[in-house]
Amino acid sequence: MSTTKLVILGAGYTGRELARLAVERGYQVGATTRSEESATTLEELGAQVVHWSVGDDPARWVEALGPSTTVVYSIPTLFKDYEPAPPGELARHVKPVADIIDACRRQEIARFIYLSSTSVYGDHEGRWIDETASRKPSSPYGKMRADIEDYLLESSLDFPVNIARLVGIYGPGRTLVDAIRSGRYRLVDGGKKVTNRIHVHDIARALLAMIERGGDQDRVFNITDGHPQPVRDLVEFICDRTGLAPPPEQSLQDYTRRNPGPNALARWKNTARVLNDRLRKELEFTLVYPDSFAGYQAALAQGSSTTTPSGAQRKY
Ligand SMILES: NC(=O)c1ccc[n+]([C@@H]2O[C@H](COP(=O)([O-])OP(=O)(O)OC[C@H]3O[C@@H](n4cnc5c(N)ncnc54)[C@H](OP(=O)(O)O)[C@@H]3O)[C@@H](O)[C@H]2O)c1
Repeated sequence: MSTTKLVILGAGYTGRELARLAVERGYQVGATTRSEESATTLEELGAQVVHWSVGDDPARWVEALGPSTTVVYSIPTLFKDYEPAPPGELARHVKPVADIIDACRRQEIARFIYLSSTSVYGDHEGRWIDETASRKPSSPYGKMRADIEDYLLESSLDFPVNIARLVGIYGPGRTLVDAIRSGRYRLVDGGKKVTNRIHVHDIARALLAMIERGGDQDRVFNITDGHPQPVRDLVEFICDRTGLAPPPEQSLQDYTRRNPGPNALARWKNTARVLNDRLRKELEFTLVYPDSFAGYQAALAQGSSTTTPSGAQRKY
C-alpha cells in the first residue's frame, strides 16, 4: 500500500533526511523534535513540526494520523541498562513504543516502521548473516531492541510493521573526520573490527521503498550497504583523502577500561557481516552509495560537518 502521509517520531539525523526526501517526493510530512534548531531545519524542509517528548500526550500528532499514514519511530532506546519486564507488565524500554502503538491502533494507520539496530544479532564472529540469523544480543541496547521488536511482531496489529535493522549511520555532518582531526579518535584494537555502514540518504530511500513497495505483511529488513569493511581501511581512506595524520591506536583492554560497560565492549568486540539481499531483492532497492568508500567520498566532498544541525556529529 502506498501512502502520502508520513509522521516521523524523533526526526534527528536520519529523520531529517527522510523528511527532506519524502517532501521532495510529494509526501505530507509531520515530524517531532524537542530541539528549536532541528524544528527550524525541519520547517525549512517543508515538514510540519510538533514539539514532543516521550511521555508527553501524543494528542498533538495523533490527530494527523489516518488510513494513509506511515509512522516511523526513530527514537533511540531511552535507557543504558537492561531491566527485564516485571511479571505481567511491559518492560520499561518497551512502554514508549507500546504507547505509540496504542495511539496508532485507534487511528487505523497504514504502516509502522521501527528503526532498530543490528545490535540485536550480538556477536556472530564475523560471519555473514541475514535477517534469519539468530538474535543473541549481548549489549543492553541490543537486548532492549530485541524486546521491542518482539513486542511489535507479536502484537497482531491491523497494519503492517517493518523492523529496519540499521547499521552504523554516516553521511554529511556525521563522519569520522572531525573526531580524527580533533585528536580524540583512537583506532581500537588496530582497527581490525569489521563494521557495517550505511549512508543516511540510502536509509531514507530504503524507508520510502518499504512504504511504497513493502506489501502488507510484517517484515524485517537489514539496512546496510552490504559491504562491511575493517575500521582501519576506512580510517586510512579518510586520512589519505584529507591529509590528516593517522589516529593513535588503543588496545581493546585500555578502551574498555576507559569506557566501562557492556554497551562499549559490544561496540568493538561483536562482529557480523550483515547482508542486505532482502532489501535489494524484495524492495527492488539499489544503493546510491554501495560501500562506505563511495559514501565517504561524497560526504567529504560535501564537507564533513556542514549540512546538519545538532546531533549530527557522532562517533560512528
Ligand atoms: N547512529 C547509528 O549508527 C545507529 C545505528 C543503529 C540504529 N540507530 C538508531 O536509528 C535511529 C535513528 O538514528 P539517528 O542517529 O538518526 O538518531 P538521532 O540523530 O540521535 O535522532 C534521534 C531522535 O530521537 C529523538 N529523541 C531522543 N530522545 C527522545 C525523547 N525522550 N522524546 C522524544 N524524542 C526523543 C531526538 O529528538 P531531538 O530532535 O529533540 O533531539 C531525535 O529527533 C535511532 O533510534 C538510533 O538509535 C542508529
